Amino acid sequence: MKIVQSKVNQIQIPAEFNSMAWHPLSWTQKEAKQIPLYPDTGALESAFTRLRSLPPLITSWEIEALKKKLALAGRGQAFVLQGGDCAETFEGCTSPKIVNLMKVMIQVSFILLHETQKPILRIGRVAGQYAKPRSKETEVVNGQEMLTYRGDLVHSIEETTEARTPDPERMIEAYTRSALTLNFLRALSDEGFADLNHPEYWELGFMKNNEFYDEYEGIIQNINKAISFMDAVTEQPLITLQRLDLYSSHEALHLFYDAAQTRRVPRKQGWYNLSSHMVWLGNRTRDPEGAHVEYLRGIENPIGVKVDASITKDELARLLERLNPEREEGKIMLISRLGADQTEEHLPALIRTARATGHPVVWSCDPMHGNTFLAGKVKTRRFEDIEREISAAFDVHDAEGSILGGVHLEMTGDNVTECVGGVSGLNEEGLLQTYETYCDPRLNYEQSLELAFLIARKVRG
Ligand code: PEP
Ligand code: CO
Repeated sequence: MKIVQSKVNQIQIPAEFNSMAWHPLSWTQKEAKQIPLYPDTGALESAFTRLRSLPPLITSWEIEALKKKLALAGRGQAFVLQGGDCAETFEGCTSPKIVNLMKVMIQVSFILLHETQKPILRIGRVAGQYAKPRSKETEVVNGQEMLTYRGDLVHSIEETTEARTPDPERMIEAYTRSALTLNFLRALSDEGFADLNHPEYWELGFMKNNEFYDEYEGIIQNINKAISFMDAVTEQPLITLQRLDLYSSHEALHLFYDAAQTRRVPRKQGWYNLSSHMVWLGNRTRDPEGAHVEYLRGIENPIGVKVDASITKDELARLLERLNPEREEGKIMLISRLGADQTEEHLPALIRTARATGHPVVWSCDPMHGNTFLAGKVKTRRFEDIEREISAAFDVHDAEGSILGGVHLEMTGDNVTECVGGVSGLNEEGLLQTYETYCDPRLNYEQSLELAFLIARKVRG
C-alpha cells in the first residue's frame, strides 16, 4: 500500500487497484486543488467505501449514447442545451424545483428545435452538482473565521465554524439526493410530461409588451400544433416518442465522490463514472499535470473543459492530448467562458489552437462565468451581457469556419431574482426579492425563455 503525502486526505487504496497505472484514486498522488481536507481520514474512508458499494445512478449505455449524440453536435447536426443550478442544494431536492427545471429545459429546447430544426440535446447541471470551487479558503463572518462554502456535498452553508467543517457523510447524502432527483426526472420523462401542449403551460404573459411578442406567440402555437399533430397520428404522444432525455452532468471537482462511483462494467473496456452522464473540468482545476486531469483521463464519459483567456496554447494542446488520446469524437466539449467583452478578442485563438491539434471537439459557450459582477454585496449578471456573449460566440465560430454546438447556462425554472435585465426589467434594487442561489446568479424562468427566443432569432439570422 503506497501512501504519498499531498494536500488531500490519503485514504487506503483498494487492493484491486494495485499495480494499475491509472485507477479511480491515482489522482491522489497529484497536486489536488479545491478538494476539502477532512479532519478525520478514517471517516472519509468509511464513507468512500460505502459509496463504492451502492448501485450506480446511470448506465454505461447511456454514457455511450450521449457521446454519439455529442459527436453530432460537433458536426453541427445537433445542438446542446446544458443548464441548471450553479450549485444544487440538498434543500432544493423537491418536487416543484425538479418539475420546474424539467419544464424550462423542455420549453427552451423546443424553441431552439423549432428554429434550428436540429435535435436538441438536453443536459442538466443536475443530480450531482453539489460541490463548488472557491477563490478563497476562508472568510470572516460576524468576527468568526470559517471555511468558505464549497457546496452541500462538503458542508452546510450555515455560518458557523462547526457547520463549515467538511463532513464526509455528506457524500452519501449527495448520492442519495442525486438518485432521488434522477428517479423523478426519469419518471417525468416516462409519463411524457403530458401537460406541455396546454397553452397555459407556457407562461409568456411577461412578454406581452415586447416588440417580438406576436412572433414568439406564433412560435409557441407552431410547437403546440406539432405536438398535437404527432399525438393524433401516432400511438404515443410526441414527448414519449422522442424520449424526454435529460442527461445529467456536474463538475468533476470533488474527486472522492466521483472516484467512489467510477466502475468497470461487464463486457466493456475502461472505467465509467456512473454518477453522471457527463462531467466537466472547471476553469480553476484544469492544470494538465494536476489531480483533476489525472482522474478525468481515465474515464469513458464525455468531458466538458471550461476555458478562459488565460489558457495557453500549449496547455490546451496538452489537455486535449491527455483527455482524449484516441481522438474519439463526442468525447470532449470545450466550453468557452470568456465574458461578453472578451469573446471577439480571444475566442478566435482558442478555436485555431484546438483546430491545429487535429482533435475533434464540440464547442459550447458558457456566457455566465465571464460576466459576473457584484451589485452591493450580491453577485449578479446582466441578461444583456449573457445574450451578447452568445451572439458574439456564434459570429466568431462562423467567421472561423467553426461550429458552435451548444450553450451552457446557469438557469432555473423558478421565479428568482438573481440576474438583472431582460424584458421583465429586473434592476439591481430588485435583486434581493427572491435571491436564492447558494453560489452564482441564475437566469429565471422568464429570462431563460427570452434568451431561447433570442438565440433562435440569432440562429435564424
Ligand atoms: C461553474 O460552472 O459553476 C464554474 C465554477 O465555472 P468555471 O469553472 O468556468 O468558473
Ligand atoms: Co457557477
